[in-house]
Amino acid sequence: MEQRTALFPGSFDPFTRGHQALVARALKLFDRVVVGIGDNPAKRGMLPAGKRQALIEDLYRGDPRVEAQVYTGLTGDFATAIGAVAIIRGVRNTTDFEYERTMEAANLRLYPHLTTVMLFTPPDVADISSSTVREVHAFGRSVREFLPEGVELENYLP
Ligand code: PNS
Repeated sequence: MEQRTALFPGSFDPFTRGHQALVARALKLFDRVVVGIGDNPAKRGMLPAGKRQALIEDLYRGDPRVEAQVYTGLTGDFATAIGAVAIIRGVRNTTDFEYERTMEAANLRLYPHLTTVMLFTPPDVADISSSTVREVHAFGRSVREFLPEGVELENYLP
């Protein structure tokens, strides 16, 4: 049977427990999930794109259904190029919802062959965001409890 691929796009600076929960949910619906790290060269983040990718690759090393790739340009173009049928996005709250609603509509206009699938972030990780991780880290506190079990941020810092 044909493999169904979903693209899970984002900045992933860094990939968190929330993202991990969404990948697990996406794997219940799709055969393969490509975590797409949208690289915006105009925006310098905490981790360089290659390190964000390495973190995700290390985490899913034993699972051939998940891969991480860095892309530039429009998400819909990348999704099309990798043969994805869907774009996965996580929603934690109404603020996320408003943003996602607009992005879904724009992507549907430009890429009618792609279906955006919105997944709720499980409640136990709904408070987690990459920006919180970056802030907590900037003030010198450990961010271990925001990151997937076993991931050490220090291993990926530039
Ligand atoms: O989860 P994030 O960090 O907000 O990710 C945002 C991302 C990278 C998915 C989004 O900014 C994006 O898709 N950027 C590429 C430009 C694009 O395709 N925009 C949406 C259609 S207009």
